[in-house]
Amino acid sequence: MSGGGPHPREAGAAGAGVSLGLRALSKRYEGSGAPALDGVSLDVAAGEFVSLLGASGSGKTTTLMIVAGFTPPDAGEVFVDGRPIVHLPPERRGIGVVFQSYALFPHMSALRNVVFPLRMRGAASGEATRRAERALERVGLAGLGHRLPGELSGGQQQRVALARAIVFEPGLLLMDEPLGALDRALREQMKAEIRRLHRELGITILYVTHDQEEALTLSDRIALMDRGRIVQLGSASDLYERPASAFVARFIGESSIVEGTVTATGDGGIGLAPDLGGPVLPGSGTLRPGDPAALLLRPEKLLVRPSGDPDGGLAARVEDIVYVGDVSRLELALGGSLRVTAKQANRRDIFQPRIGDDVRVRWARDEALLLPASVASTTPTKERTHV
Ligand SMILES: Nc1ncnc2c1ncn2[C@@H]1O[C@H](COP(=O)(O)OP(=O)(O)OP(=O)(O)O)[C@@H](O)[C@H]1O
Ligand SMILES: [Mg+2]
Repeated sequence: MSGGGPHPREAGAAGAGVSLGLRALSKRYEGSGAPALDGVSLDVAAGEFVSLLGASGSGKTTTLMIVAGFTPPDAGEVFVDGRPIVHLPPERRGIGVVFQSYALFPHMSALRNVVFPLRMRGAASGEATRRAERALERVGLAGLGHRLPGELSGGQQQRVALARAIVFEPGLLLMDEPLGALDRALREQMKAEIRRLHRELGITILYVTHDQEEALTLSDRIALMDRGRIVQLGSASDLYERPASAFVARFIGESSIVEGTVTATGDGGIGLAPDLGGPVLPGSGTLRPGDPAALLLRPEKLLVRPSGDPDGGLAARVEDIVYVGDVSRLELALGGSLRVTAKQANRRDIFQPRIGDDVRVRWARDEALLLPASVASTTPTKERTHV
C-alpha cells in the first residue's frame, strides 16, 4: 500500500489500520453547564469500523475533535497502537479527517487540495502529485483534478475531501457526518464507496452520524452516545436485539414499549403485568417478579393469527392497519388501554386481518425483552428514523 520514499505515517506501525483507545475522556466547554463528554472510553481494533451514533449535542463531534487533536480534553488519554497521543499536534498524529462541510480550499484545484497534506508532511512535489492523482482515482475522480471545488458537485467535493484524507495513507480515518450534505441517491452511492475503501485499505474508521440506518449498515460496531456518555457499544444486532435499556431500544428501530411490573406466569416463566391493565405479556430477562419493568416488543416479532387459531395467543382487536407497500403495520388493542404494533409482510400466504377483526397475537418469549424500568423513562430527543 505504501509507495516509495519515506513512509508518511507518523503514529502507528506499517500495515493498514491502527488500533485506537479512548480512556475516560472528559470535556466541559467554557461557559456551558453540563459536560460535553463525561468519561468516554472506547477501544477500536485495527481495521475496525466503529460509528458514534447519537442525538444532536450528545458529544460525537467533540469526541472526534479530541482524537484528531483539534480540541484538547480536560482529562483522559487517547492511544494509537497503544501509544498516548494527546500531547501531539494534529499533523503529527497520522490521522485522516473528513468533515461534514468538506473544508476544501476554494482557490485551489482538486488536485492541489489533495496534494496539500503531503506537502505539509514534506513529500517532494513530483511524488506528491503522483500520489494525489492515485488518491483521486481511488475515489472515482480521475481526470477532474484540474477543477476548482466550485466547479464540482457536492458529491464530487466530498470525494475530494475523502481523497485528501486518505492520500497520506493514515492508519485511522475520522469521518464526521460525511454524507449529511448529500441527497439520498448520492448518499447510498458514497456509503458503498466508503465500505469499499474500508475493505481495500484495511484502514481503521471512526465514523460519526445521527442516522441509525447509516450506522447499522456501515459499521462493525456502534457506540450509542447520550449526553456525553457511551450508553451501549455493540454490533447492529446487539443494539437491536439486546438493547441495554429502553433508551437504546427506543433509539434503534421501532418498538412498542409497555411499562408495568414483572410477574410469574403459570408456565414457569415471567411476564409483564402492564400498568395500563390488560393481560400479562410473556417476556424474558434477568428481572424478578415484583420488579418494575418495561417490555420491549419489536413489531416484526409479533405473529397475528385468526381468533380461532389452535395455537392460541392473546386475544386482540385490530384497531388500525397502515399499508406501507412491502409490509402493513397493525395497531392491536389488547384489553385495558393497552396498544401494541405488529408489522407483517404483505404476502398472500400470510393471514391478513381487517380493521375491527378479533385476532390472536403471540410472540416467542425470548424475543420480548424485559428491561429495568429505572432507565425506561428517558426518551431520546432525536427525530425518529426507522430501520
Ligand atoms: N465550541 C463549543 N463551545 C461551547 N459548547 C460547545 C462547543 N462545541 C460543542 N459544544 C456543546 O457540547 C455538546 C456536545 O457537542 P457536540 O458538537 O460534540 O455534539 P454532536 O453529538 O456532534 O451533535 P450534532 O449531531 O448536532 O453535530 C453540546 O451540548 C454542544 O452545545
Ligand atoms: Mg456534530
